[in-house]
Amino acid sequence: MWTDLKTAAEAATTRSIMDLFQADPDRAETFSLAAFDMLFDYSKTQIDAASLEVLLGLAKDAGVAERRDAMFAGARINETEDRAVLHTALRNLDGDAVLVDGQDVMPDVLDTLARMETLAGEVRASDVTDVVNIGIGGSDLGPAMAYLALAPYCDGPRCHFVSNVDAADIADTLRGCDPEKTLFIVASKTFTTIETMTNARTARAWLQDNGVSTDGRFIALSSNADAAAEWGIPSERVLGFEDWVGGRYSMWGPIGLSLMIAIGAEGFKAFLRGGQAMDRNFQSADLYENMPVLLALVGIWHNQGLGHATRAVLPYDNRLSRLPAYLQQLEMESNGKSVAMDGTALPVNSGPVVWGEPGTNGQHAFYQLIHQGTRVVPCEFIVAAEGHESDLRHHHELLIANCLAQSEALMRGRSLDEARVIMAAKGLTGDELDRQARHRVFPGNRPSTTLMVPKVTPEVLGQIIALYEHRVFVEGVILGINSFDQWGVELGKELATSLGPLVSGDAPADGKDPSTQGLLAYVKRYS
Ligand code: F6P
Repeated sequence: MWTDLKTAAEAATTRSIMDLFQADPDRAETFSLAAFDMLFDYSKTQIDAASLEVLLGLAKDAGVAERRDAMFAGARINETEDRAVLHTALRNLDGDAVLVDGQDVMPDVLDTLARMETLAGEVRASDVTDVVNIGIGGSDLGPAMAYLALAPYCDGPRCHFVSNVDAADIADTLRGCDPEKTLFIVASKTFTTIETMTNARTARAWLQDNGVSTDGRFIALSSNADAAAEWGIPSERVLGFEDWVGGRYSMWGPIGLSLMIAIGAEGFKAFLRGGQAMDRNFQSADLYENMPVLLALVGIWHNQGLGHATRAVLPYDNRLSRLPAYLQQLEMESNGKSVAMDGTALPVNSGPVVWGEPGTNGQHAFYQLIHQGTRVVPCEFIVAAEGHESDLRHHHELLIANCLAQSEALMRGRSLDEARVIMAAKGLTGDELDRQARHRVFPGNRPSTTLMVPKVTPEVLGQIIALYEHRVFVEGVILGINSFDQWGVELGKELATSLGPLVSGDAPADGKDPSTQGLLAYVKRYS
């Protein structure tokens, strides 16, 4: 199946996006897709009708529809961990039965949601001024990203997100908090993660050092209720979730508690409703008009087809500044794998390197490379038609104008002749004109997509996040990998544990390689 993609991609290498628009006046409409009020435009790519057929063929051959149905039905599609994958159940607000091993999980899900509401309501009504979520990876990035994204809807206590084991993170956070009025949420699916447990202990010591009782100051969000109890958090302050919720897919349940405290239960449910709406779209729309599928196929086209190794996510929304980091975990931890589900080597590249920054800031930093560098970086723009600062509409108009300008510039480029005309108008002639003009050439024909949303409300954010989750799923199915494990993070964790005593000087570094020994010697000398 990959041969057809390679052939289609080779045929596209000389294809001009501008020519595609010339040849087909309906291209913008044909190669874009609406779901709810969202619009996904992928017309500024080299995809044409024939290559789209090939891509859809890949999705069909890989059994995307069947795997999708298996996921929603609670099958154990996370085969290397023998688990179901049911984060979608967390946003199944209607409560329709979802079976795992014949057991309906929805009563527990809805019960936990009700407990979250009660706890969040109590915190919002209390004198707590600061909530500190201590977690890392999936227990941090989702709520941290959404808290920032939904700042206009935050009317609860301030939330902070401490993740790094670097003491700077917790120290800087606690400096601004009043021990009498600070609540800690220890968010860890496993309740064993070294960074989180270290920060949680430091938080507890901070309260004690300030003469404040730790009673009622901690909430745990975890699948490991026993470990939370052992740590001293009573069961009524522990919100649990099942192993079928992967860490990077967990913000829809208890891990989203800080967000619920910040925006209130109704706002949080609107977020869930958005995710649920995208689930329904994903489940019911035909593949060729299925937004997560199309987003995935564009990704496969650029990465496995054309060989572009990275993907820039460029939200023109300052409050979506943590979205690229969130998507980095979602996409790279899910699809950064070189072994297929059956243990064989992947015949194509694994998922792309995902990176990005909000526009317009990125324009003044790395867009130079995107426009004129030797490598092509497919760009994914995200922008809302409306901002929240209605009294400053002119800012938003400029933001949109910049977003649209970038995708147009990437596509259109500027030829040497055009650059020569510009330089001649500035009075340059002869060799100097030629030399200067060459620096002002933009190759153009660089692909981008644009996701437009009406406004980043809780519901729309839910749609966006679920869209990306399903996109990752579809790409994973086409690659034939398990998107729901993360064995690649284990080796580093093991080595870090064994290196601890070597860094503190409690054990000799003899067995280590010369480079590591040299680096340890440096630490000893300077610490
Ligand atoms: O190290 C990777 C990872 O396991 C992620 O998948 C997860 O989101 C993160 O660590 C945090 O894990 P936990 O929620 O168990 O503390």
